[in-house]
Amino acid sequence: MKSFLSKISALALVGLLSGYNPAQAQSHYKTSKGLASVLKSDLQDANKQYHVLMKKLPAGMFPRNYYAANDSLGTSGSDWWCSGFYPGTLLYLYEQTKDATLLTEANRMLGLLSKEQYNKGTHDLGFMMYCSFGNANRLHPSANYKQVLINSAKSLSTRFDPKVGLIRSWNSKKSDYIVIIDNMMNLELLFWATKVTGDSSFYKIAVTHANNTIKNHFRPNYSSYHVVNYNPETGAVQERKTAQGYANESAWARGQAWGLYGYTVMYRETKNKKYLEQAQHIADFILNNPNLPKDKVPYWDFNAPNIPNAYRDASAASVTASALLELCKYTNGAKGKTYFTLAETMLRSLSSDTYKAAIGTNGGFILKHSVGHLPAKSEVDVPLTYADYYYVEAIKRYLQTK
Ligand code: GLY
Repeated sequence: MKSFLSKISALALVGLLSGYNPAQAQSHYKTSKGLASVLKSDLQDANKQYHVLMKKLPAGMFPRNYYAANDSLGTSGSDWWCSGFYPGTLLYLYEQTKDATLLTEANRMLGLLSKEQYNKGTHDLGFMMYCSFGNANRLHPSANYKQVLINSAKSLSTRFDPKVGLIRSWNSKKSDYIVIIDNMMNLELLFWATKVTGDSSFYKIAVTHANNTIKNHFRPNYSSYHVVNYNPETGAVQERKTAQGYANESAWARGQAWGLYGYTVMYRETKNKKYLEQAQHIADFILNNPNLPKDKVPYWDFNAPNIPNAYRDASAASVTASALLELCKYTNGAKGKTYFTLAETMLRSLSSDTYKAAIGTNGGFILKHSVGHLPAKSEVDVPLTYADYYYVEAIKRYLQTK
């Protein structure tokens, strides 16, 4: 164990020596005073919106989406993959506005969510528990939060099969082993668990999963498939396809965003350049895509058939902007500046009236116009809880850029 941990420290050192210098890289980017002031005022508006949402939320439920036509707030139980985003957003907002009501509401939701630490039926525990309890523990470290997160990492790890070398995403029939690109987002919890417990098994699972995902989930142009189905006995790829995208060979916008964010975290946590390059390749696919619109809020799928009339996905923009604001710190020179500028354009667009809801509207959600699952005709062009979470995270990252 000791040697494993010193290996991690050595890797961090190698990262530093090989040109990764966040302090130096970050100083290349100057935030725009105009945009920073808009975003600060957006945080105040978001705070007010979450008071609206809070009042609409039935006891014991988690917010999920909103349908304006019949003023209907969609909710879920704590076991839905999105349950961590509302408490996580409340905590990000509390951190920046110091509104104690939001902290009280976040704590109420953490109480409802806590039992999911033992949920072994989902791969989404990173989303559910790290976005919520991870932020709670970051702001107010406690033995209880730590234990919840460690138990969550243990539950998530039970879904890793060494024969396949990946965490199982969706439960399926016995002859299938389904992994989706979204799963890259659940690995940050595992890195945290190794740092806190000293148990390297979490770290190794994350790295093995990420390596096999690089190998099997990406096309030569670095766009990713949504779903890969493996043979559960041999780990061979049986099928590559989509579920939430337009077509098996299309680039579903949020999937690209999950991959970008996931490999940026992989680099942060390992300092392995291979992950940095993967994240940069994904970023370049997004930013050079001829179907990325001028305001840089992606269509729900980069290959949607009815572009330019296809729905936009604000959630894809939020996740991408937040990831780019971290990736640019690890990327020196013009390329890093390009990532920073793209994130700025996304934030500028999201904070415009086109995407940002007027206070009191939109069911209390901050952003309009996301797409959940278009092929299933579910959550199309609605506010979604994760669009808000990554938007507020991106604002925080932008305002913290020195
Ligand atoms: N499956 C998670 C998502 O919709 O991005």
